[in-house]
Amino acid sequence: MKKISIIGAGNTGATTAHWLAERELADVVLLDVVEGMPQGKSLDLLEAMPIIGKDTHVLGTNNYEDTNNSDIIIITAGIARKPGMSREDLLKTNAGIVGKAALETLKHSPNAIFIVLTNPLDTIAYLTLKKTGLPRERVIGQAGILDSARMRAFVALEAGVSVENVQCYVLGGHGDEMVPLTRHSNIAGIPLRDYFPADKLNAIVERTRKGGGEIVGLLKTGSAFYAPAMACTQMAEAILKDKKLIVPCATLMQGEYGLHDMYFGAPVMLGAGGMEKVVEYELDADEKALFEKSAASVRESHEALKSLGL
Ligand code: NAI
Ligand code: 2OP
Repeated sequence: MKKISIIGAGNTGATTAHWLAERELADVVLLDVVEGMPQGKSLDLLEAMPIIGKDTHVLGTNNYEDTNNSDIIIITAGIARKPGMSREDLLKTNAGIVGKAALETLKHSPNAIFIVLTNPLDTIAYLTLKKTGLPRERVIGQAGILDSARMRAFVALEAGVSVENVQCYVLGGHGDEMVPLTRHSNIAGIPLRDYFPADKLNAIVERTRKGGGEIVGLLKTGSAFYAPAMACTQMAEAILKDKKLIVPCATLMQGEYGLHDMYFGAPVMLGAGGMEKVVEYELDADEKALFEKSAASVRESHEALKSLGL
């Protein structure tokens, strides 16, 4: 059995453990600083396995040694965005937490592929890459699958069609300037721009951009976790099964889309090697302008990280 360790056993970490265990994709280790909590959640999850007939082993721990020889490390440790708090407000605290967690896990699992969830996502993924010194193939940020799934859900609701008929591509940074591509997104092959009147489509785009904040506003004490956890699960599955799945993820740009030395959401191919390829779309002038705006906002956050000296 493969092994996945999840750092941070809060809402997203524990829910990712749940989806992974249910799919019998790998044995799961759930690590947190809080004593007893990851152990309790893991034992509870382990006790659910006989009911669904899955032989997934789930271990809760506060000790990095238990993460030894993991194939995948999923980092969710940190604090979640609270109402009124921007993702960038989280930077300082979460960079400190994730920097240490990344180095500890790498020590015990030198061959692991890292999936980063902690916000501000693009910058924390960049930090993880820099701290570990790993190649970009092995440090991938989760954002685009979630943002695209939100858009797919809103489109399916509005059109009254199955979510299976809806493909959406939300690229760029994981922030309010993210780029929902309405020309490439479609319902059963029909571009959204041709399917919806402009005002309806604009409303869907705006709701997608603010999707994270909408959930924060409702929950009040935390942020989304079911869909983010499912997105991490899809990434882990694609890697473990070498699926060559093309999905939007945050990756280090090395000239693609004209961007360099920064994490940014783009369609990538996920397989056994991690992020195996960046897929480049032809963008029109409007789309290029949206990319530029989003890139500027991510660059600013990367600069803030550098100025913290972390
Ligand atoms: P949460 O507060 O429920 O869980 C975070 C966990 O991290 C807590 O259990 C906490 O004890 C643990 N933790 C804190 N410091 C730690 C350390 N040094 N080592 C190990 N564990 C530590 O938060 P939630 O909802 O799970 O979110 C986690 C992070 O993921 C947040 O930064 C949130 O903003 C981000 N997020 C990102 C998404 C994305 O699409 N990229 C989507 C959803 C959440
Ligand atoms: C979200 O988009 C909080 O980034 C998180 O839900």
